[in-house]
Amino acid sequence: MDLFDTALRVRANAHAPYSGFKVGAAIRCPDGSVFAGCNVENVAYPEGTCAEAGAIAAMVAAGRTEIAEVVVVADSPTPVTPCGGCRQKLAEFAPAEAPVVLAGLGGELARTTVGALLPGAFAAGHMALATPGSGP
Ligand code: THU
Repeated sequence: MDLFDTALRVRANAHAPYSGFKVGAAIRCPDGSVFAGCNVENVAYPEGTCAEAGAIAAMVAAGRTEIAEVVVVADSPTPVTPCGGCRQKLAEFAPAEAPVVLAGLGGELARTTVGALLPGAFAAGHMALATPGSGP
């Protein structure tokens, strides 16, 4: 099964009773392993989690920490791009050039990269440049 089919299939399990907007995400790691996630909403709205976050959690739980490619599937005629928080989460594990495929139910609508989604990302290097103990 390809990455799109995986994302499409997991999307069916999304728990989205509040927005009615189901999303599926699938990640492929450099070793070929694949992890999937769907959005999981909550009656306390801010507690909901995105599909990308679920896929990342499954990947890390399985002992993988490198993302090679991502597919996000939603029922939208225009490409649904990851939210700001998910862009940062993807950047934690993916190189800037990692492709992110944005798909509708019928297949790919657009293609971008993790780096293009989050230019100027906050990274560990910023903290390395700080002066230790210089805070209040
Ligand atoms: N959502 C995702 O799961 N991923 C995205 O990339 C965009 C938005 C979810 C969050 C929420 O459950 C619903 O879509 C509506 O915002």
